[in-house]
Amino acid sequence: MKNIPYINLKEQHSLLKTEILDAVSNVLNNADFILGKEVKLFEERIAAYCGTKFAVGVNSGTDALFLSLHAYGIGAGDEVITAPNSFLATASVIVAVGARPVFVDIMEDLNINPELIKKNITKKTKAIIPVHLTGKPAEMDPIINLAQNYNLKIIEDAAQAIGAEYKGLKAGALGNAGCFSFHPLKTLNACGDGGAITTNDEQLYKKLIQLRNIGLKNRDESDIWGYNSRLDSIQAAILNVKFKYLDSWINSRRENAKDYNERLKGLVIVPIEKIHEKAVYHTFVIQTDNRDKLQKFLLENGIETKIHYPIPIHLQKVSNLLGYKDGDFPVCEKTAKRILSLPIYQGIKQSDLIYIAEKIKAFHENFRRISDE
Ligand SMILES: Cc1ncc(COP(=O)(O)O)c(C=O)c1O
Repeated sequence: MKNIPYINLKEQHSLLKTEILDAVSNVLNNADFILGKEVKLFEERIAAYCGTKFAVGVNSGTDALFLSLHAYGIGAGDEVITAPNSFLATASVIVAVGARPVFVDIMEDLNINPELIKKNITKKTKAIIPVHLTGKPAEMDPIINLAQNYNLKIIEDAAQAIGAEYKGLKAGALGNAGCFSFHPLKTLNACGDGGAITTNDEQLYKKLIQLRNIGLKNRDESDIWGYNSRLDSIQAAILNVKFKYLDSWINSRRENAKDYNERLKGLVIVPIEKIHEKAVYHTFVIQTDNRDKLQKFLLENGIETKIHYPIPIHLQKVSNLLGYKDGDFPVCEKTAKRILSLPIYQGIKQSDLIYIAEKIKAFHENFRRISDE
């Protein structure tokens, strides 16, 4: 029996060990630990890569979202529209700035349904956070139209979507601010926490530069209260090493997705990429009945899978006071019971993909036989 992990970070780091240790050693030799050369270089690379004028390195994807909301003055009494099937951080930052998350159901592709946004816009709505979940861009044109008509900010949650494209534009260049995570499980991953915000808005950029560094506008002076949310120089140095491989990793994930799609089509629902999208497959999520049984069967056959995410945010205990209930978001709730993320990391062997697809097929044949009996 094979033993296929969901992701193989040890392998990735053993391949890059020399390069990473050299980069870290360089930072140590220069004692350039806080907002140094490596951070600046990384920010320039991210901005150029995403096609925005600016990028600001921060300490996590969560802080990227929090600081963007905060910098736009969103806070108490305001509402922010987002999807209920994201990682908890997307909603928690809205609460953290003092605003109220307003959830809107998703489409079968797991991204926010733009048609449902309009009726949730009130006088209090200040922003929309579309999440490019799984690394597939949200359907942005109608969201951009609504934002223009109602004077709302768009803060992209692009935590899972570096390199994804919508109509030729990269995630992070589609809204007022693009928020990225470099958590170890992301495609471009630090060896710890990291994040960035991309933007074309110079005023926002200047404010973020201060907010992430205690509000300081130079070494000694400040005109706003701020935080300590700097991207660590050692993490930036590691990210600069890995950045060189980003496109080849994305290509490899896209190849893996294509391979899975061909093998699994007709057996389970597989992700579909529209003609105007480029998805980067941070996760490869299938949808199927009997998800829990399939997950157990795969584990018994040495295959680790994950669920992103099993409990929608509006049904988390922490959301009690928001007043939502089971049944409010039917597509989100249905898909939460049907989604399963398969291993898709760059470097997974094709023989492993074939093995996983064969086991999924075997499960369905077995299941059909049992239900026919
Ligand atoms: C969709 C989404 N939003 C926000 C975050 C938060 O990023 P971080 O873990 O870097 O704070 C993550 C990832 O963890 C995420 O997947």
